[in-house]
Amino acid sequence: VSTPLQKPIRLDRLLANCGVASRSEADVMLRRGRVRVGTEIIRTGATKVSAAEVLTVTVDQEPLDRPFGVSVLLHKPVGYACSHDASEAPTVDELLPELWLRRNPRPEWAGRLDRETSGLLLITDDHQLIHRVTSPRHHVEKFYEVTLGEPLVDLVSAQTMFESGSLPLDGDTKPCLPAQLLATSEPCRVDVVLREGRYHQVRKMIAAVGGHVEALHRTRFGEWELPGDLAPGNWVDTQ
Ligand code: URA
Repeated sequence: VSTPLQKPIRLDRLLANCGVASRSEADVMLRRGRVRVGTEIIRTGATKVSAAEVLTVTVDQEPLDRPFGVSVLLHKPVGYACSHDASEAPTVDELLPELWLRRNPRPEWAGRLDRETSGLLLITDDHQLIHRVTSPRHHVEKFYEVTLGEPLVDLVSAQTMFESGSLPLDGDTKPCLPAQLLATSEPCRVDVVLREGRYHQVRKMIAAVGGHVEALHRTRFGEWELPGDLAPGNWVDTQ
């Protein structure tokens, strides 16, 4: 629910969306008179609130956090796993407000990054949006900055292989879709533009042209760009 609500929403559902309480806990809160719409105490979870009223809902006099949904750009640092499994700590969940882990629907990342990859992660509770931008049918463009162990021996033929649409991927039967390998002013730095997102794809593509990735950083994902001044571990709301 990242876009303003089209239809009025039940109060108990709104509280669960925002992570304040499960729907049954919300009923207890409501009965105790802790929830207001504007100045009025509301005691029944089935009460519907309009988009305008949502902004006036308070629990214990506190407004709700992001009542229309979560949609943020996170600068994922190296070393953090895209996982909800605490045994894989540190995880990106630890970089987000704890309240968000209780939201329903829960915010998730669109297009995971390897633990050793840094950069842009779109995190949203709009699961339709996640589906749209990660669906293999939609070919959403991703932009990666790659640091190589050594310069590629033959950059021009590597570029041709990237663009060919026939570059094989280790462990995969289907070749990669055409992609771009762009030179920069530094011989150990290249940029890669992909329109798909397979497991370890950039690392495997670079390996397939005889190179080795030392560091990988995503700066763009579809229409979203990592703000240049966003420090690793920080996030900002999307516009
Ligand atoms: N390609 C990779 O190899 N790793 C990532 O994290 C993203 C793309």
